[in-house]
Amino acid sequence: MECENGINLANGMPNAKMFPFEEISVMYTSGINVKLTGNDLTWSLQYGPSQGQLPLLKKVREFQEYWHKPKYNDWDILFTSGSMDGCNKVFEMILEIGDPVMVQVPTYDGILNALAPQMPEFIEIKQDEDGIIPGNIVKVCEIRQRAGKPIPKILYVNPTGANPTGTVLTNIRRKEIYELAEMYNFIILEDDPYRFVHFVDENPTTFLELDTNGRVIRLDSFSKIISSGLRLGIVTAHKEFIKKLTIHMETTNIHPSSLSQMLIFKLLTTWELPRLQQHFDDIKKFYHQRRDIMLSLIEEHLTGLVEWNVPKGGMFIWIKVNNMKDVMELVQKKCISQRIFVLSGHAFNYDRLKAEQHIRLCYSYASPEEIDKVLGFFSYTLFASPTD
Ligand SMILES: Cc1ncc(COP(=O)(O)O)c(C=O)c1O
Repeated sequence: MECENGINLANGMPNAKMFPFEEISVMYTSGINVKLTGNDLTWSLQYGPSQGQLPLLKKVREFQEYWHKPKYNDWDILFTSGSMDGCNKVFEMILEIGDPVMVQVPTYDGILNALAPQMPEFIEIKQDEDGIIPGNIVKVCEIRQRAGKPIPKILYVNPTGANPTGTVLTNIRRKEIYELAEMYNFIILEDDPYRFVHFVDENPTTFLELDTNGRVIRLDSFSKIISSGLRLGIVTAHKEFIKKLTIHMETTNIHPSSLSQMLIFKLLTTWELPRLQQHFDDIKKFYHQRRDIMLSLIEEHLTGLVEWNVPKGGMFIWIKVNNMKDVMELVQKKCISQRIFVLSGHAFNYDRLKAEQHIRLCYSYASPEEIDKVLGFFSYTLFASPTD
């Protein structure tokens, strides 16, 4: 095979001439039509570099520079098959079996599943309406230091529009937590897929922005802003870590889908920053409206029966059912018998048997009529069986 700098008889690549595709044509919103033929088509269908396709790497490095202005030079990026893939690989690379790990609780259930094979010593870092509480981290680290126990290697944090609580970690706390990471020497795993799905005035400062020496591993995702099915995410971290992660990628997925990378690349190059910013603004407006619809329906149907937070970002409202010690039966039996599907708080605890009063409601895709129906059902059921 001829390649740009010579002749390649090294790789076991199939011949793209034998792929049954003539052309891939894509129509993006705003009427932009892209036809993938020739080299672009081969790029999209063939194996590629494990770190990611070079033109997309270049483009996304520019974006990370623009959005986070990293304070140190030796950072780099790698594409993953979504942020979940990134989390999993980071845990596999950093944690030994039984290691302590600090995790924001309640926690996105995918993270709990990703941690399970490592059988970690799971240390809960609690949240209030401003996100995780730095004082909790200090307490954990001080107690462990005094007892001669190792400081956890990682703090997992989902800072913006947290799943399931919808909190946005305040900038003051972000700074405090970064200082604690410096003081106690732990890594911050910043899982931030809702970075552009928040309802606060300014984009919060990211941990990557605060990082001066490569102790932050940042995960971005295209899932909530471009497409979840394309399965593409970004890890941004110190170059040395990215080199090791590239080897991990080589020996697991090889690389995320080339076609997905091409579709994102074409979109990012045809749109450029101002159009992309417009898209993010549209997303925020859309989910903000959805959130408000659900909030007003909760108020209408469930006032006095449940307590709820007002999410500052993300796609979920975390409700607490009053006068019910455990919502398991309500969610698993009563809801499912009516073909109503919600997640009980159990899914977001490491100890899934612990009694839970919370339910996570997702406002991103059900219609207002469907939300009304579900909340009406909750109202009827909670009135009919008020306590346990
Ligand atoms: C906090 C959090 N992290 C990671 C993910 C997974 O994202 P991806 O689709 O990029 O794997 C989700 C998806 O819901 C999430 O809420």
